[in-house]
Amino acid sequence: MTVRMKLALTVFVTGALAALGVAVAMLFAFERFEQESTYRRADAFLGRVTGMYDDLRGQQASDPAGFDAKLRRLVLFEPATQLYLLDGAGTMLASSLEGGSARGRVDLGPVMRAVGQARPPYVMGDDPQRPGTTSVIAARPLGRPGAPAAGYLYLVAGDGRGPAGGSELLARALAQPALVAAIGVVALATLLAAWIIAAVTRPLQRLSAAVSAVTRDGLEAPPAAGDALGALPRASHDEFGMLAEGFSTMLPRLRAQWEALRRLDHFRREGVSNLSHDLRSPLTATTACLETLQARWADDAARLDDARLVEVALRNTHNAARLLQSLGELAQLDEPEFKLRTEAIDACELLDDIALRFAARAGAQGVQLQTEAPSAAPVVEIDVALFERAVANLVDNALKFSRDGDRITLAAEQRDAAVAVSVSDTGSGIEPDEVPRLFDRYHQARRSVAPATGEGGRGLGLAIVKRIAELHGGTVEVVSRLGAGTRVTILLRAG
Ligand SMILES: Nc1ncnc2c1ncn2[C@@H]1O[C@H](COP(=O)(O)OP(=O)(O)OP(=O)(O)O)[C@@H](O)[C@H]1O
Ligand SMILES: [Mg+2]
Repeated sequence: MTVRMKLALTVFVTGALAALGVAVAMLFAFERFEQESTYRRADAFLGRVTGMYDDLRGQQASDPAGFDAKLRRLVLFEPATQLYLLDGAGTMLASSLEGGSARGRVDLGPVMRAVGQARPPYVMGDDPQRPGTTSVIAARPLGRPGAPAAGYLYLVAGDGRGPAGGSELLARALAQPALVAAIGVVALATLLAAWIIAAVTRPLQRLSAAVSAVTRDGLEAPPAAGDALGALPRASHDEFGMLAEGFSTMLPRLRAQWEALRRLDHFRREGVSNLSHDLRSPLTATTACLETLQARWADDAARLDDARLVEVALRNTHNAARLLQSLGELAQLDEPEFKLRTEAIDACELLDDIALRFAARAGAQGVQLQTEAPSAAPVVEIDVALFERAVANLVDNALKFSRDGDRITLAAEQRDAAVAVSVSDTGSGIEPDEVPRLFDRYHQARRSVAPATGEGGRGLGLAIVKRIAELHGGTVEVVSRLGAGTRVTILLRAG
């Protein structure tokens, strides 16, 4: 849900709740007002009746039927109102009810409150016509003032609403034009709020569109015509306006800095690549000279020391040549323009070729090198030369960290929509805390067991593997146990 929707919904819900609260409060106030005014009218009416007629008890005793009729006449114009004559204990002696005298008693508690000194705003008492319910009542004592009451004239004010009462009143109140007006005001306020919210949050919306564009296209993409930020109102000086303006000022700077970084990075890669290329010939020449010397002094006992020195120089020259080659390769692979030349190939065939290439070295080390082929050979879409380089790096590592009697297995298997190409060894294994940093460039596990070959590593082999896997849209994972061995797996999409 957008911020606009949330704010508009908040305004609407708040307005609707406020309108409902006001309606309920009005309903209660109205009901109370009606009860109070009914009570006052009833009390005043009883005052007039008791003022007009003396000895109501006597009149009833002498002519009960005539008295009932008299009571009916008194309330002729208030059909919902009933009059009762009670004795001092609350027993009904006569009533205005149609069809004869009333029977039973009414609760004297409310009667006492109605005739007492401290009169409440209104009194609710028994309604003999509807047993079990209460209505607004009024009462007047009969007899001489100062003497105990000889009886009471008791009036039950009907509300004329029938038994439905409160709920019917509510339904009626809901239909009131006042409530319709309240709903109208809430709707209008919501619309107005939505319009204001839309106006206030417009810069925010444009800003969010601009941020999404940068997230989607990156900083390299040139600002498109009609860029979302171009339309940001410069004049708006609220927080949103300032935020949008800040972003639109920051974006060109970020683009410029990004461009400078890209150029620098390109120069660096180009420099490394050229250096690697230019140093290759002198190093090859040096190696050739050193190899000639080594061959010349191999059987010369007098030149034993010199032969050792040449051997060290040759080893270092080899290392330097390989370092240069790795650096050159990485620089090439990092180029954004680097393109793969892919073809579909049987992964197991590729592994067999690589195993063959390393067979002699494995044999010399006493390491068993094998490939594991599933019945249905997985086909992968890869740049063969590049991928061979990646797997060769893994086999090189496995051989470096294996000893006589260890085993190295190259395997390829289908895993759902992916093909897993793995190189496992039973060599020295890697410390668990080293594993996350293995793919960092120039990282070599400090506590790893000395390489079997005695050759110094450069810490670039796995970085190259990772880059090659990335270029193929794949990933690399390492599982290793110190002293038990290592498995490095390249996961590729199946071809
Ligand atoms: N199969 C393995 N068994 C044990 N340790 C390994 C294995 N593969 C990699 N490592 C550890 O990971 C480190 C990084 O490997 P990586 O291939 O990146 O560098 P390197 O082999 O030292 O040098 P380079 O490959 O550049 O000649 C190694 O130095 C080694 O400590
Ligand atoms: Mg390596």
